[in-house]
Amino acid sequence: MTEENDEKPKDDLYSIPFFARRPIEIVRGKEAIVYDREGTPYIDCLGGHGVAIVGHSHPKIVQAICNQTKRLIVCSNALHNDVRGDLFELLASIVPLPLSPSFLSNSGTEAVECALKIARKATGRTQIIAAKKGFHGRTMGALTATWNPKYKKPFEPLIPDFHHIKFGSEEELDNITEKTAGVIFEPIQGESGVFVAPEGYLKKVKDRCFETGTLLILDEVQTGMGRTGKMFAFQHWGVIPDILCLGKGIAGGFPMGATITSEEIANKMEKLEHGSTFGGNPLASAAAIAAINVITEEKLPERAAELGTWFMERLNELGKKAVREIRGKGLMIGIDLRFKAEEYVLKALKKQVLLLTAGITTLRMLPPLIIQKEQLERVLEVLDEILEIRKA
Ligand SMILES: Cc1ncc(COP(=O)(O)O)c(C=O)c1O
Repeated sequence: MTEENDEKPKDDLYSIPFFARRPIEIVRGKEAIVYDREGTPYIDCLGGHGVAIVGHSHPKIVQAICNQTKRLIVCSNALHNDVRGDLFELLASIVPLPLSPSFLSNSGTEAVECALKIARKATGRTQIIAAKKGFHGRTMGALTATWNPKYKKPFEPLIPDFHHIKFGSEEELDNITEKTAGVIFEPIQGESGVFVAPEGYLKKVKDRCFETGTLLILDEVQTGMGRTGKMFAFQHWGVIPDILCLGKGIAGGFPMGATITSEEIANKMEKLEHGSTFGGNPLASAAAIAAINVITEEKLPERAAELGTWFMERLNELGKKAVREIRGKGLMIGIDLRFKAEEYVLKALKKQVLLLTAGITTLRMLPPLIIQKEQLERVLEVLDEILEIRKA
């Protein structure tokens, strides 16, 4: 080991170097604050990439996980399980009809893989249409649906018959035809820069899917579970997808993905055509039940709507010249800059605020929905300090 390696944190030293980690090590978290080894607090607007919807170590999640570990951690999907059953029932109760039956997995990308397979099987077609600038995950199907060539090029050839159209363009919806199995979109594109679907667009997409017998898949891995001010972002536009993908905060930080569809579509799938060893295990299911109950009981979607509107108004009032545009809904906020965003993430970090980027020039905030107004006031102060026009 070299001296330089001696200084590297262990999670860099012994891992495949896929991640560009920031220079802090987080060891503990409570509500919307995370702490490093020295006990320095950081306001967490990164939120585990949008996972920490209910905040860190919410007591009800902690209790549900502790209780379930003492009862049963593992139960094969070849057997029935009470907690998994309760979660399926709860999920069916929070989605609008005709959505109801779900498949449980362990991540967002798996939720998308399942959706793509269902679309192909249920329609007997192969073509998938996705959006330019869309992001759906890193496994081969989800990666093929993803747009960014940086993520895809090294791994080609990917899966055939995937096509990308311009997000928001009604003219390009003619590309959806009787050959198209599924259209997969994020209602608000997260990873590429926080781009909200234009008013009326999703309805047009749904109508075109209906005309052509195509299934509409909405990837709400990032926008779901209250993040945008409604339980699901599609509720802003009254458009119910044929297949819904969820992940991130669905289980309060415990890994989980969910793919939800209608009975009619689910009935076109046969036994053993898809599966997962860990998906929906009792421990994850207990965490998810607790998280969903917290989201509804604490009215977190409403809270996200209120705080998000207030925050974006305040941000606009700052009138920073470095800012080109402020986009988003609820507590999914993008601050598009005239400069590369990464250096501002590092500036904020020095002031104990964690942010993330989206695309190259957008600063993104995905804080816990339980974040306090005073904490957001501090974030505004920090943004006010760091978003000064750079001297050439
Ligand atoms: C919209 C969307 N879909 C899918 C994924 C993939 O989720 P995961 O990283 O849990 O596989 C992400 C992750 O950021 C996402 O934002």
